Amino acid sequence: MGTVDLARLGLSYGMSLVAFHGGREPRPFSAAFAVTNRCNLRCAYCNTPFLDPTDLPLPRVSELFDRLKQMGVSRLGLVGGEPLVRKDIREIVSLAKERHFFVTFNSNLVLYRRRPEVFDDVDLVFTSLDGDEEAHCAERGAHAYDGVLDAIEALTSRGKPVVAIQVVQKPDIEQTEGLLQLAERLGFQMHFQPQCVDTAIVRGALPESVTSEALRDHWAALLERKRAGRPIASSARYLAVQSRWRDFRVSAMLDPSARCAAGRGFLYIDPLGDAYPCAFTKGKTEPINLLEQDWRRAFTGATPCTVCNVGPMLEFNLLFQNPLSASLEALRRIR
Ligand SMILES: C[S@@+](CC[C@H](N)C(=O)[O-])C[C@H]1O[C@@H](n2cnc3c(N)ncnc32)[C@H](O)[C@@H]1O
Ligand code: SF4
Repeated sequence: MGTVDLARLGLSYGMSLVAFHGGREPRPFSAAFAVTNRCNLRCAYCNTPFLDPTDLPLPRVSELFDRLKQMGVSRLGLVGGEPLVRKDIREIVSLAKERHFFVTFNSNLVLYRRRPEVFDDVDLVFTSLDGDEEAHCAERGAHAYDGVLDAIEALTSRGKPVVAIQVVQKPDIEQTEGLLQLAERLGFQMHFQPQCVDTAIVRGALPESVTSEALRDHWAALLERKRAGRPIASSARYLAVQSRWRDFRVSAMLDPSARCAAGRGFLYIDPLGDAYPCAFTKGKTEPINLLEQDWRRAFTGATPCTVCNVGPMLEFNLLFQNPLSASLEALRRIR
């Protein structure tokens, strides 16, 4: 990442931070855009492929990106569903890059070998690894592992940073160790996120046999490994929050004394251009269509919950609650 891009990202985050703490008009620095709900897989914990399959046509995507740019967004996450099922995904990445967004891209990578050029302008790749081939396919279906490690190797050898996400459903430290050793061998990082429940984009529940106490111990073991220098992208603060989370069957709650930065610091946009404070609030709050309305004026600041342990949202909130230490750690990770 070049110095100019880093400065642009830092400035936009700084302005977002000032707006959040100063109680001013929302100024999200980061947006996640689900380019499609469609997917080549049917993972046990994910509901996205069962949602509306309609995609925004390319000219409307271009308009949407213009709106995001005007709003001050500098980091754009292209997510799904599976972005690689969209035939025009290369063009979408180019539209994002033309606007100088820092572009992250979430993909299961099964279709990577058909379209490696899609990643030419991507700054950071997120993928999914739930464990070894057997554990991964148990959650994500037969063939969900096919070509994934080759794709990760190809991406890292092209100089693309890769972070693989494990959905933590049970405290299986052997699988964690296997993933960390693989990450050390292939040169990528791991991010761990608890299986979240109770929202439109997810399905399923934690296995009944798994207790929150056992999960807390597991997260504490992940924190220890992070401190020991293992390749873990999740922040230490995030792992610490997970190691104290009371009930993993509840992913989010409304605490009137807490504030969440969703909608002010970051937002989520579904494939129709409907925006929500974050992905977890889809189906729980009225959307604002970004092609018709200006988020900065239309968003009231209200979120249906204020405290959560949902993977990306908790990391983002920590950036707003502990700006100095969290941004220094994020900078180290980007570097
Ligand atoms: C929705 S997927 C989209 C990108 C791509 N299709 C993939 O699977 O990597 C983004 C991430 O969310 C994770 N995810 C899906 N359902 C989840 C759940 N219920 N709780 C936590 N993470 C979940 C996936 O494993 C994946 O790493
Ligand atoms: S987690 Fe990703 S790969 Fe799995 S069904 Fe959801 S969108 Fe598809």
